[in-house]
Amino acid sequence: MAKLAATEIEDGIPSVMTGAQQNDYGDARNVITLHQDIPVPGELSCKQILIRVYAAAINPVDWKVLKGNLTFIKRFSFPHTPGSDVAGVVVAIGSSVKRFRVGDKVYGNLGTDGGSYAEYVREKESLFALKPSNLTMVEAAAVPLACLTSYQALFNTASPIVGPGSKIMVCGGSSATGLYGVQLAKAVGAHVTTTCSQRNFSLMEKLGCKVVQACSDMTTDPQQLLVIDYNNKDFGQELKGQEYDFVYDCVGGEQQWLAAQQILRRGGQFITIVGNDPEMKVSLKYMATLGSTLVGHKLQSIFSSTKLSYKFHAIRESYQDLDEIRTRFLETDKVKPIIDTVFDWRKDGVEALYALYEKSKSGKAQGKLVLKIADEE
Ligand SMILES: NC(=O)c1ccc[n+]([C@@H]2O[C@H](COP(=O)([O-])OP(=O)(O)OC[C@H]3O[C@@H](n4cnc5c(N)ncnc54)[C@H](OP(=O)(O)O)[C@@H]3O)[C@@H](O)[C@H]2O)c1
Repeated sequence: MAKLAATEIEDGIPSVMTGAQQNDYGDARNVITLHQDIPVPGELSCKQILIRVYAAAINPVDWKVLKGNLTFIKRFSFPHTPGSDVAGVVVAIGSSVKRFRVGDKVYGNLGTDGGSYAEYVREKESLFALKPSNLTMVEAAAVPLACLTSYQALFNTASPIVGPGSKIMVCGGSSATGLYGVQLAKAVGAHVTTTCSQRNFSLMEKLGCKVVQACSDMTTDPQQLLVIDYNNKDFGQELKGQEYDFVYDCVGGEQQWLAAQQILRRGGQFITIVGNDPEMKVSLKYMATLGSTLVGHKLQSIFSSTKLSYKFHAIRESYQDLDEIRTRFLETDKVKPIIDTVFDWRKDGVEALYALYEKSKSGKAQGKLVLKIADEE
């Protein structure tokens, strides 16, 4: 049994656990190992909780962090347990924890600190919210980072926010963030268009949408979703002059911004979560380039006749937003997680982790990639 300094503790917490360990920066196959004897975190600070992890998901930022692309702003001491999205059960709480009790089911994102690819993780309570009651642990783990990012981009960073009647183009509708972006925008009554390849049209149908490929085929049916196959058409040329209010870019690269300028109305907003460099190797040069891109586009918006705004959105930690996503969109079935593959190291050992990272890095995921760590009772 683990010796835990905590106010409330569940019985039967073991002293060691299975978890992933990163031993250097690089590709998963070279730097990750799986261990059965990692000490379960003890000693909770007053605001921390200990979670028994049932499922954890991957996001592109996880392989970028693993490779060392963010060492300019975040360095680890090794060994380090990676993983940021998580769903699980609270098994111990610190003395000032107010929002949770032992036994609560929660979900959240641990940020660059990581730690979710393990059977237990200790973190501050403010990173977590109650798990949506209608989702399994695997589904809940597929929500936090991707959905929070799109929720905040559409309803915080956008100003005025996306709402009924807004016209929005989501670049990369089949990406995890794009799938949430399309659903959130539709849920508030926006008119949504998206780019994705033909092989992913079926994903859009899984969202309950009727895929339409030409503006001329659009009717007033709110189920319809205009989809542009980005392999064959440039959305800027295809939708030129159609006066969109927003372009929400989940793909990145200069081309999205160039195309967006063709379709945004005067004063329209381009919100990117990627910017020009999808690899995001954060360095002084990267920060300088991002800064000059933002300043350049800001000046362009002030002096040009179209007054377009260019915004880079980065996720912000907020349990209030996770609560709002749960009550307003997930538990009302307006938004649902789409899962590509569930990996399990209890069946496939460390290969499950390698496959998880490799599939995410391929850029070809069709929904979320989730690591199942324990079975639900
Ligand atoms: N700023 C932030 O806070 C923040 C937060 C979350 C994510 N991000 C970033 O956002 C990006 C997307 O993340 P994600 O998790 O949503 O990605 P993801 O799920 O891994 O994206 C994979 C999907 O993107 C599609 N795709 C690739 N290139 C495309 C293109 N040119 N046009 C349209 N679709 C394309 C692929 O479809 P095909 O197979 O058809 O190519 C695939 O279905 C990443 O760069 C990530 O780091 C930033």
